[in-house]
Amino acid sequence: MKKEWQGLFITIEGIDGAGLTTQTTILADRIRSLGKEVLVTKEPTSGPIGQVIRRILSGEIKHEPCVLALLFAADRAYHFSSEILPALLKGQVVISDRYILSSLAYQGVFLPVSWVKEVNSCSPDPDLCILIDVDESTARERIEKRGNRREIFEREGEAELIRRNYLELAKKLSWVKVVDGRGPVDQVANLIWKVVEPRLEEVST
Ligand code: TMP
Repeated sequence: MKKEWQGLFITIEGIDGAGLTTQTTILADRIRSLGKEVLVTKEPTSGPIGQVIRRILSGEIKHEPCVLALLFAADRAYHFSSEILPALLKGQVVISDRYILSSLAYQGVFLPVSWVKEVNSCSPDPDLCILIDVDESTARERIEKRGNRREIFEREGEAELIRRNYLELAKKLSWVKVVDGRGPVDQVANLIWKVVEPRLEEVST
């Protein structure tokens, strides 16, 4: 199917502690070094809906899983139309640290994946999604090193369920590519580069 944009839309996914933010930054720098324009962005956004989501994730506001799923879908529709699409229409490369696959994998632990897909139908699939795959114990070690406050999805055992969902989705969706995320940062960055570099031919800027 012909894309509605000239740019390239890449998303980076994985369980908490997989190294998404680090790898997003490295990938963006590599693409920029080729002279291409890159927009780096993230979900949940820092917009109005994203701010409510953060308060739920920190435990400050209580929620039902379907409320959170709808908020993520609304935040994404807002994100895509206000930030992602305008950049893609200008021919830029957009890298989003989390997008639709996060909802399918995380909210899919508590809710039917088909319903989560349906409520996200305003937001188109990315051109390419890199799934950084790590096991729960590796992810946990990294989170502990980081020393951040835990969010609601960092409970024992839950990460393996989310990971399983991610890997199941990757088998079904052709635009998802799995990268082994267990190695050192540079090694993982090189694996990601091998997948992304050939796709940059699609961008003219
Ligand atoms: P972050 O730690 O990468 O900023 O993401 C915040 C948390 O929100 C993380 O645990 C993943 C979760 N999340 C979902 O459950 N569904 C979603 O659609 C998104 C974007 C994030």
